[in-house]
Amino acid sequence: MKNVVILISGGGSNMAAIVRAAQRDDWAGRYQAQVAAVISNKPEAPGLVLAQEQGLTTAVVNHQAFAHETDPRAAFDAALMAAVDQYQPSLVVLAGFMRILTPGFVAHYAGRLINIHPSLLPAFTGLHTHQRAIDAGCQFAGATVHRVTAELDHGEILAQAVVPVLPTDTAGLLAARVMTQEHLIFPRVIAQLLASMPG
Ligand code: GRF
Repeated sequence: MKNVVILISGGGSNMAAIVRAAQRDDWAGRYQAQVAAVISNKPEAPGLVLAQEQGLTTAVVNHQAFAHETDPRAAFDAALMAAVDQYQPSLVVLAGFMRILTPGFVAHYAGRLINIHPSLLPAFTGLHTHQRAIDAGCQFAGATVHRVTAELDHGEILAQAVVPVLPTDTAGLLAARVMTQEHLIFPRVIAQLLASMPG
């Protein structure tokens, strides 16, 4: 079985869309693949509850627990890696995972680490993408699924979805419009990657 491990920090709506697609499209039968675990860096992430309601295995690696370490980021990443590696994942999916990962972590999962970002990369890396798109006068916004490299929000683009920016948009309205597309393209890319991987 090819294991997919999903990392979250918040609401988990992308995670839920992936889990729904896995059930609806029978990833187990078609790709011999399953969502093996959902791991959050925040114990209070609402997505953890959603995952548990689906009967999924969940875990928390709380980044705050490493604050006292000499190198908190490296220590957190080492603990996260240990948690993820328990599942020997074919794919590690960052679905609203709001931590910058160390180059060592990224290298460890080279070729099997992907992220979704709520902008049309390479425009608007980082945070507050929707407000920045509105402020820049963009007529279109969107989302990007990409491979993760050591540089934030860079890496090969695997899929993009475009939505219009309307004159009446607020960041929240635009985010919601982009989100509906995120929920379509992310599971689609994952299915394609799983289909292309040897069993
Ligand atoms: C999404 O907009 C995603 O693109 C970004 O963080 C948000 C996560 O939302 N990286 P959710 O937790 O999947 O609902």
